[in-house]
Amino acid sequence: MVGGASGLGEAIAQGLAQANARVVVADLNLDGAGHVAQMINEAGGRARAVQVDATKKQSVGEMVQAALAELGQIDVLVNSAGVTKRGAAVDYDEEDWDRILAVNLKGLFLCCQAVGKVMIGQKSGSIVNLASVGGQVALPGSVAYAASKGGVVQVTRTLAVEWAPLGVRVNALAPCSFATELTKPIYADPANYEFFVRQIPLGRVGTPPEIVGAALFLASDASSMVTGHILAVDGGLLAQ
Ligand SMILES: NC(=O)c1ccc[n+]([C@@H]2O[C@H](COP(=O)([O-])OP(=O)(O)OC[C@H]3O[C@@H](n4cnc5c(N)ncnc54)[C@H](O)[C@@H]3O)[C@@H](O)[C@H]2O)c1
Repeated sequence: MVGGASGLGEAIAQGLAQANARVVVADLNLDGAGHVAQMINEAGGRARAVQVDATKKQSVGEMVQAALAELGQIDVLVNSAGVTKRGAAVDYDEEDWDRILAVNLKGLFLCCQAVGKVMIGQKSGSIVNLASVGGQVALPGSVAYAASKGGVVQVTRTLAVEWAPLGVRVNALAPCSFATELTKPIYADPANYEFFVRQIPLGRVGTPPEIVGAALFLASDASSMVTGHILAVDGGLLAQ
């Protein structure tokens, strides 16, 4: 569970543990990951925290070794590490562009690649990537984020096709706006918050527990014939 210290990743880590999975909660924020692992263990589940910087190949390799030492094998990878920063495209900051693409796209790919190798060796595994509706439709003010999530959609489809004959499924979730640490600074401006709510036919943003069912579906054998799919959890946004 990469990016498991907060928000959607935290909720999915809890959901996986409640479904009896042993969970390695990996995040740049080791304290946060430790807190999530502790909550899972106190609730009767089994979890361990590991620090990872998903943008660094060596760090990702060490995370995979720690996960293998803990679990023996890796059945599921959820990639939920992500960052964002809004800004007009015309003068979007170069450093913000690089950071967002590094975490959301390169980091996700490095984790898929390292864990994918293990899963290919096992001839089984399921990868669930966090994309976004922003990877499929354009919303103003998020050019770097949209580019990164469009990339996540295509990484997901490409790996799904390459790895289907090798026994590894790769899918993604495309959430609309959900209330997490990521969106807190965005919602701080009521005009921004109302803008996001207006896009969503159900008339509200999502809450982290509402991503869990879809994540468990894609992670588990319940979706054994599903690969290369981008599953919207979007209150109807993409239906418009
Ligand atoms: N919240 C939303 O509205 C929303 C909507 C669509 C998609 N998403 C996607 O869902 C995922 C989770 O978002 P969230 O809202 O839970 O955000 P969040 O900020 O609550 O959690 C993101 C986690 O990623 C971790 N992280 C950041 N950089 C990292 C790195 N280099 N290596 C390892 N971990 C790192 C952070 O420490 C944090 O724990 C992201 O990919 C995000 O783009 C979120």
